[in-house]
Amino acid sequence: MSDSNVKIFDTTLRDGEQVPGCKLNTDQKVIIAKQLDLLGVDVIEAGFPVSSPGDFKSVEAISKIVKHATVCGLTRSVENDIKVAAQALTYAKNARIHTGIGTSDSHIKHKFKSNRDAIIERAVSAVKYAKSFVEDVEFYAEDAGRTDNDYLARVCEAAIKAGATVLNIPDTTGYCLPSEYGAKIKYLKENVKGIDKAILSCHCHNDLGLATANSIEGVINGARQIECTINGIGERAGNTALEEVVMVLKQHPYLNLDTNINTSMLYGMSQLVSDSMGIYTQPNKAIVGANAFAHSSGIHQDGVIKNRETYEIIDPKDVGVTESAIVLTARSGRAALAYRAKHVGYELTKIQLDEVYANFLSFADKKKEINDNDIHQIIETSNVYQ
Ligand code: KIV
Ligand code: ZN
Repeated sequence: MSDSNVKIFDTTLRDGEQVPGCKLNTDQKVIIAKQLDLLGVDVIEAGFPVSSPGDFKSVEAISKIVKHATVCGLTRSVENDIKVAAQALTYAKNARIHTGIGTSDSHIKHKFKSNRDAIIERAVSAVKYAKSFVEDVEFYAEDAGRTDNDYLARVCEAAIKAGATVLNIPDTTGYCLPSEYGAKIKYLKENVKGIDKAILSCHCHNDLGLATANSIEGVINGARQIECTINGIGERAGNTALEEVVMVLKQHPYLNLDTNINTSMLYGMSQLVSDSMGIYTQPNKAIVGANAFAHSSGIHQDGVIKNRETYEIIDPKDVGVTESAIVLTARSGRAALAYRAKHVGYELTKIQLDEVYANFLSFADKKKEINDNDIHQIIETSNVYQ
């Protein structure tokens, strides 16, 4: 693995599927997993096998069909969880068990009614037990975002000694600022003995809208895996959006960090997940929202028609969108009207355009958006061809 390569760990089918009211059946999960494999994700977290017979069946079915990616199953630090996950992963070409425990004082006190040393012991036992089934064991320190760095470093060191190959540092509650999250990863890189034997992984939630920024700070500071979901779906405000982190790294090549993702599949992937889960994607969603490449104000439209780069930092084709959209509204100018008129077959002279534009404005004031049929009607009723 080159040091610039950031692994993409997709958890759409596990953390993503925790969105209330969006249960997927095994067939739907298998279709999504096949596409994720083609998309080029490195790891597919297929589910939490002990949580239900349905989840077990899905992880098993996905393990059988995935060709390239590692297939991963989540567990708590509980022996039976780990044993069941190992069974569900039996058919995977590359299997990973993702085990862990809460490490913040709040989790230790309220969830486990325990103490710091006892939590480390449970973490170590879980990793060792998982290691008895698979070579690839990822350890998560749940609520690492609110765990103090000294203790977190002790936990990570113990997990590596027990055999963990990946250390997941979740900002479970989406609380950290990018600078804090980046500093946490840097601290672990510099203070955990044996850290060179493991990969640090960012798992950020979006409660404050910072999941993407935090994950990027994480990899800038030495993490080499990002855990994310398509469209950023997940518990509460969701997880880091896969399409966002991948495109941030692609559009900033000087960071010298890349992924194995075929970005031209991003838009289709977004549609597949949104349709299967019945979760509508907000129009202004970065990269894959309906308006991500739509221009509606006159000034922007004029610029984009002259040269796309004036108001677009991404070529829409790079993410699987055929072309940018010039949306005609009452805010549009003559350049946009002429452009769209040409698309539907009218080459207007300057004088004709002036006349049609006046008609267009009175039409557009009564309608949110002007479509191709409206353009025909506006031009034909403007009498410019007589
Ligand atoms: O957010 C989180 O802490 C998690 C872990 C279970 C990995 O999803
Ligand atoms: Zn999570």
